[in-house]
Amino acid sequence: MKVLVINGSPRGDAGNTIHITNAFLKGMSMIRKDDEVERVNLIDKNIGFCRGCFYCWNNMEGRCSQHDDMDELREKFKNADLVIWSTPVHTFGMSALMKNFLDRLLPLHLGTMEERDDGGDQHIARYNKTAKQHVLIATCGFYSYTNNVEAIEKHFEIMHKGRLETIICCEGALFHIQHPDIIRRANQYLNVARRAGKEYAFSGHISEESKEQLRKRFYARTEYHILANHHWTIPEPGMTEEQLEEKRIINVIHCMGALMNRESFTGDMPGVAEFDVWDKAYKAQLHIRAERLKVVLDREEFLPPNLIIRVESGRLFELDEKIRFNRQMNTDSGTQEFSGTQAIVNRMLMSMKTGRCVTVKI
Ligand SMILES: Cc1cc2nc3c(=O)[nH]c(=O)nc-3n(C[C@H](O)[C@H](O)[C@H](O)COP(=O)(O)O)c2cc1C
Repeated sequence: MKVLVINGSPRGDAGNTIHITNAFLKGMSMIRKDDEVERVNLIDKNIGFCRGCFYCWNNMEGRCSQHDDMDELREKFKNADLVIWSTPVHTFGMSALMKNFLDRLLPLHLGTMEERDDGGDQHIARYNKTAKQHVLIATCGFYSYTNNVEAIEKHFEIMHKGRLETIICCEGALFHIQHPDIIRRANQYLNVARRAGKEYAFSGHISEESKEQLRKRFYARTEYHILANHHWTIPEPGMTEEQLEEKRIINVIHCMGALMNRESFTGDMPGVAEFDVWDKAYKAQLHIRAERLKVVLDREEFLPPNLIIRVESGRLFELDEKIRFNRQMNTDSGTQEFSGTQAIVNRMLMSMKTGRCVTVKI
C-alpha cells in the first residue's frame, strides 16, 4: 500500500502535529511492514496559488497552467492508497498550506458536476478514487473542541466521508514544552496514537475506545491556560521593567501551582503556599484545592500559610527550573532534597497535619 503523508504545518518536522502523525505511522508499521510511506512537508515545496483560470478544465489531460512542485505531488496523490493529512488548526480551519494544496488538486477533476448522495454537488473525478482512504490528524492551540474544530472536521467529512478517520488533539501546544509532567502526559497520548495506527492498519478503522482517549484532555482548562499563557510574558504599553518582572514572577508561581499534584488537598480549607520574594518585597499565595488552584496577590485575601518559601527573585526562576527537572535545590539548611513539585506538596501536607507552618529559605 502506498501511504502519502501531507504535512501542512509551516513548522515542518518541528511542529506539534507531526508528533502524533509519526506515532500513528509507527503503529501502522507494526502491522503493515511493507507499506511504502512518503512524507511531504508542504512548507519545503514550491507551490503557487491556484489562479482560478480553469485551464485544467479546458484541456483533455487536465494540465495545470502552472508548473511547479504540484506536477509531481499531484501524481503522488493520485497514486496513493492512503493519504494522511497532518495539519495544525489555523484560524478555525486547516493551514493555508494545506488548503492551497487541496485547491491545486483541481486538475484531478473535470469541470462537469453532478449531485452527491448527501445533497451536495461535486465535480466528476478524472480517475477512480473510490479505493483511496484518508486520515486527518490535527492539533490546536486552544483547549476547546467546541467552536474551534468544527470547520476542519466538516471540511474533511464533505470531501472524504466513509473513507476517513480523524484524530484532533486540542492542547497541542503542550507537545513542545519540556517539562517532565507534560512530557509524561504527551507520551501517554502518543501511545494511544500509536495504538490507533495499529488498529487502522489492521482493520481500516480506529476503535471507539482509542478515539475517545484521543479526545481526552491532558489538563483541566484552567491549568492548560496557565501553562500556555506562561510563554507569553510580553510588556504591555506603559509597563515598567519592574512591572514586567512582577508579571514574570506571577507566571512562574502560577505554573508551579498548575503542575502540582493537588489530589491530596481535599479538605475544607485549601493548602496555602506563600512565595515571599524578599528582594522585591513581593508576596503571592497559592491556594490549592484538589479541584481548583488560585493565585492570590491581594494581601487582604491572604490565608495563614502552611508553607512559606522565602526566595530571592532570580532564584525563583532557578527553583522553577529545578522543580521541572527534578534537580536538587540548595536551601539555607544546606543541599536538601527539594526537587519535583511533590517537594512543595509534601511539605505542605506535613505542616497541615502538624498545624505548624514551615519556612524554607532559598
Ligand atoms: C496562524 C495561526 C492560527 C491559529 N489558529 C488557531 C485556531 O483557530 N484554533 C486553535 O485551537 N489553535 C490555533 N492555532 C494554534 C495551532 O493550531 C497550534 O499551535 C498547533 O499545535 C500547531 O501545530 P504545528 O506545530 O504542527 O504547526 C493557530 C496558530 C497559528 C500560527
